[in-house]
Amino acid sequence: MASLPYIVGNWKMNGTRAMLNEARAIDRAAARLPRVQVAVAPPATLIYRTREAVELIGVGGQDCHVKESGAFTGDISAPMLKDAGADFTIVGHSERRTLHGETDEVVRTKAETAFSAGLATIVCVGEIEAERDAGNAEAVVGAQVEGSVPRLEGAVDKLTVAYEPVWAIGTGRVPSVEDVAAMHKAIRAKLVTIYGDAGAQVRILYGGSVKADNAAELLSIPEVGGALVGGASLTAESFLAIVGAAA
Ligand code: G3H
Repeated sequence: MASLPYIVGNWKMNGTRAMLNEARAIDRAAARLPRVQVAVAPPATLIYRTREAVELIGVGGQDCHVKESGAFTGDISAPMLKDAGADFTIVGHSERRTLHGETDEVVRTKAETAFSAGLATIVCVGEIEAERDAGNAEAVVGAQVEGSVPRLEGAVDKLTVAYEPVWAIGTGRVPSVEDVAAMHKAIRAKLVTIYGDAGAQVRILYGGSVKADNAAELLSIPEVGGALVGGASLTAESFLAIVGAAA
């Protein structure tokens, strides 16, 4: 596993130019925390300005189109994200899978397009509550990993996987430490099956209601290589409390 914990703030559809002050504050604090890798994924309208506003932290997109360009009104391509200053993009977030009907195949194609454009990728996976209740969570997530991760030569080296149980996103609920540990172990095993030894190096983040008061416990779980943070990433104060827990 990569050595530094990786804490990523996904701003989702939040933020106007005033949010750049939060990004600057996060960046200044990150300079004092060299043992944590920090990044934010602002809405597309702010990627260029965020890139200009910060020096140390990573800046990423929240999605990209499967194609590099074309007649797709309203969409944004991976080369556009790269050109705007993004280092990475998230793909396969549950809000994309659920609200936009994205399949594993679509997610994998997006991850491959992003990699080809020079972006690192964070591929999200996670079960819904009924799947966990039915005892199928590991099978569901394993199949998502199998179908969603990029298969292009070298892509594994720029891959992060984020395990986000759908029922934990924005709800204030989190799985038990044992369940997070078991799922991360299962994802690791699947990545090694897919990529061989390189799969052992892929960072696996946890996401879903990560807050200042549960971050230290979640981040101390073996195989949890960091966190993908939604709501608590929207102010520098709440996000930095999580970053601090990883330091
Ligand atoms: O991408 C982030 C996740 O959806 C987690 O969101 O921290 O608001 O639960 P949340």
